[in-house]
Amino acid sequence: MRVLVTGGAGYIGSVTTRWLAQTGHQPIVLDDLSTGHRAAVCDGAALVIGSIDDRALVRQLVERESIEAVIHLAARSLVQESLRDPLGYHETNVAGSISLLQACLAGGVERFVFSSSAAVYGVPTQVPINEQTPLNPISPYGQSKLLFEKILTDVSGAGQLAAVSLRYFNAAGAWPDGSLGEDHRPETHLIPLVLRSKEPFRIAGSDYPTEDGTCVRDFVHVCDLAEAHRLALESAQPGDHAIFNVGVGRGYSVRQVVETARQLTGLEIPSIEGPRRPSDPPSLVADTTRIQHALGFAPRHPGLETMIESAWAWHQAHPSGYATP
Ligand code: UFG
Repeated sequence: MRVLVTGGAGYIGSVTTRWLAQTGHQPIVLDDLSTGHRAAVCDGAALVIGSIDDRALVRQLVERESIEAVIHLAARSLVQESLRDPLGYHETNVAGSISLLQACLAGGVERFVFSSSAAVYGVPTQVPINEQTPLNPISPYGQSKLLFEKILTDVSGAGQLAAVSLRYFNAAGAWPDGSLGEDHRPETHLIPLVLRSKEPFRIAGSDYPTEDGTCVRDFVHVCDLAEAHRLALESAQPGDHAIFNVGVGRGYSVRQVVETARQLTGLEIPSIEGPRRPSDPPSLVADTTRIQHALGFAPRHPGLETMIESAWAWHQAHPSGYATP
């Protein structure tokens, strides 16, 4: 399929783009490079630098490139930042996404895969979390993802749009040879911060109601996430909006991640215990039954060790991240 990948120069988007190119699709990347990297866009894909809310650009791109489907990853995606800038988050993640969808529909696109997030559950009422778990986002980021999911339900229900939302849990790891990986500026994510180890790693809260007092997350290899996008793209049904959790179904605590990284790298990785971050749920672990049954999704790299090993390979090959901004 000819697929427009918004945010295809970002961490998850770049791996998804390369995976699509390797599995017989023709990805074209739309990215404004506000947080993405030109060097992350694989050779097999054209990069169009521009914004999702530029309707004329998107419409022209969709028609010129005969785009059949869109994978929409471009977003602002930091929970804590969203607490400081709620309007900016809604502007990009809701208004920008509406604008993109309008231009895509006008250009005849019928398939749309949306990057949603476990953040839609807030502090979940049950763990593991399935797709029926009540939706109570506790940040503007989570709220913005939920709002656009609802919009997709309305739009697909009213017509022929085939929509899929993927609620990611915690993306981790890198392309196995270390050629594509995580490079956020500033970096706020657990695994890259642990591996960077420039200064002692600060554990954000050690008094959570979890086994060792630190938060628990369900880490899913970024290559498995890429495969989930391919499956979603190929399975989308006209007039339907399917929603799936994408995780592994196993939780690791922050302390377990630090300890595993120490063992795998041989680094000391000193850590200190600091205060909680606002809006960090204690435990997010997916029930992945629905995506397993509906799409045949089965993570090929479910082990935390493999994820950290590939993140380490990326970090060693690119200690300062991508050469281009
Ligand atoms: N953490 C620390 N110290 C740090 C950074 C993180 O202890 O310096 C902890 C956090 O408190 C959290 C865990 O590591 O418990 C994971 O934090 P990340 O920032 O790596 O990831 P989040 O769980 O906050 O968020 C990620 C995505 C969101 C998404 C969410 C859904 O960034 O977009 O997963 O699970 F919504």
